[in-house]
Amino acid sequence: MPDKKIQHRIETLREEINGHNYLYYVLDAPEIPDSEYDRLLVELNKIEQQYPELITTDSPTQRVGAMPLDSFSEVQHEVPMLSLGNAFSEQDMEDFDKRIREGVEKDCIDYAAEPKLDGLAISLLYDNGLLVRAATRGDGRTGEDVTLNIRTIDAIPLKLRGNDFPAVLEVRGEVVMPKEGFEKLNQQQLKKGEKPFVNPRNAAAGSLRQLDPKITATRPLSFYSYGIGLIEGITLPEKHSQVMERLKSWGMRINPESEVVKGIKGCHAYYEKLAAKRNDLPDEIDGIVYKVDDIEFQNIMGFVSRAPRWAIARKFPAQEEMTKLLAIEVQVGRTGALTPVARLQPVFVGGVTVSNATLHNQDEIDRLDARVGDMVIIRRAGDVIPQVVSVVKSKREGKPRRFQLPATCPVCGSETARFEDEAVTFCTGGLYCEAQRKEAIKHFASRRAMNIDGLGDKLVEQLVDEGLINTIADLYKIEVEQLIKLERLGEKSAKNLVAALEKSKATTLAHFVFALGIHNIGETTAQTLTNHFATLENIMHADEAQLLAVPDIGPVVAENVITFFKQSHNLDVVKQLLDVGISWPKIKKKPVEQQPLAGKTFVVTGTLETMGRNDAKVALQELGAKVSGSVSKKTDYVVVGENPGSKASKAQDLGITILDEKALLKLLGQ
Ligand code: IVH
Repeated sequence: MPDKKIQHRIETLREEINGHNYLYYVLDAPEIPDSEYDRLLVELNKIEQQYPELITTDSPTQRVGAMPLDSFSEVQHEVPMLSLGNAFSEQDMEDFDKRIREGVEKDCIDYAAEPKLDGLAISLLYDNGLLVRAATRGDGRTGEDVTLNIRTIDAIPLKLRGNDFPAVLEVRGEVVMPKEGFEKLNQQQLKKGEKPFVNPRNAAAGSLRQLDPKITATRPLSFYSYGIGLIEGITLPEKHSQVMERLKSWGMRINPESEVVKGIKGCHAYYEKLAAKRNDLPDEIDGIVYKVDDIEFQNIMGFVSRAPRWAIARKFPAQEEMTKLLAIEVQVGRTGALTPVARLQPVFVGGVTVSNATLHNQDEIDRLDARVGDMVIIRRAGDVIPQVVSVVKSKREGKPRRFQLPATCPVCGSETARFEDEAVTFCTGGLYCEAQRKEAIKHFASRRAMNIDGLGDKLVEQLVDEGLINTIADLYKIEVEQLIKLERLGEKSAKNLVAALEKSKATTLAHFVFALGIHNIGETTAQTLTNHFATLENIMHADEAQLLAVPDIGPVVAENVITFFKQSHNLDVVKQLLDVGISWPKIKKKPVEQQPLAGKTFVVTGTLETMGRNDAKVALQELGAKVSGSVSKKTDYVVVGENPGSKASKAQDLGITILDEKALLKLLGQ
């Protein structure tokens, strides 16, 4: 038989846990970290396992656990669950306000304004403070008993707080799935190869319709109360807003955006304020609900059919609409990525007319199974780019073909490619493709590539826009006279630029390979390729097996190199560059194993005085070293500059040889 001490500990733990739930959900002011909360739950669970006779249904450990149901039973709503009339404009709101003012014979009405949450209406019945039944709205009179599922929602108390709650209390409110949880849930769905939910409301509805509460328990559901149904045992205050405060004191969550506003002006101002905030709110809302705050006035106004005359829902412009997918066009971005764009029959959604929406990439098109001619659901939330949410399959006519991104670039005709583990398909004509021209030239001219002094991004844009250059090879044909004619470029700058171009012709093979802007080939990989192959011809003609034999070169890089040098357009440009005189010192290639730093792994950390960290890396690689980004047991040397980070201390811990800048320079023979 458990003693009093155990019973007492159990009660203290339950109170503590409920108290933290209240702080977290209702007051939005958590006091302890999640880990501490979990610890309390674990302790309570452990004691309850030891003394099962002390388990009560309102214990916070008892949210999940019931067996799956065969079906949901019906629930009759004693007080019907009503719906709301809609307002779509300021004028509709003014008409509503006028009806109220005339009805109650007052000049200015106080309204309780609340976000209209986009979830599911739920009725929660508390008997002597204990949650005994939860039901969906259904048709307003008959709903479904979803008690077991509702019990899994942490934001819903299993027991009311305090001791002044009524004997019978039916709380009405909305079960929602917060946007963040919805996104995560959909990512999990996709990972599991299951269909994602279309929107948070569907996800919330689907989650509550589970016959197995264990599944519902894994879904990120939440709840806000917005009113009461049945009540017995106490008299309520006179204002709706005060009733809400009472609900809050009993542990029910109220939407923090709720406010009492004065008159129609107050309604309009509140609408504007919430519309501006809409996208930043944690939950999806589709409008504002205005309720006459004074309950006596509510009684005067009464009801029409199934909706109160004292409340109205001002709807935001719909964020989702259906329209026809007229065509799928392919755009090539500055970096060469191919983006499929949906051309749509213009549709008014989210407050603007939308005629295009992004389809992101081939995977997205496949996921949606979007085909030309389909009816699609378009979503535009705030300033977010319009998205195609889903295809209405039931409206598909005939047998339209599946859409495939093209095998050649719609801008330049080069082959397109998509590499393993990448979602994007891109054009491989990097040096030649008009869409990528500016970016390719900017990259080519940059300091770490050909280091063309004075040729900044702005000037590149100007040169291309003025038609002076088309490809990077054209850069070397520019003359001072042509440059002078450009706006904002003086004679001195023009001469300096031509001189810088001339100077850049003497480069290194690694710089040149990097400057070509081959997808996925950074400086380090360019250096690795150069060290291994020693000549441009060797790199250009290397086959897959040869490339894969190079240390640190994997199948993705190999495929990138091969595809790049397969494009005749790219080969043309390379030839032109060599023809204008770009050259580099011949690499007297010693077999890798004979290079002085062969087989040694370096890490460079901190700021070096005489050279950039990157230059140091390249110089080390030229001597056959491998340069890594993180210190491990396999590291042979760590080069430490000024203000090194944790890598230096880690090296010390592992007993790895540390070199300062002086030692490095000596090693490099400088
Ligand atoms: S009050 C008599 N307040 O909107 C008033 N409803 O169209 C009945 N809803 O089924 C509801 N947020 O699911 C009210 N702050 C809010 C609401 C809200 C969302 C939903 C509710 C109801 C529907 C009515």
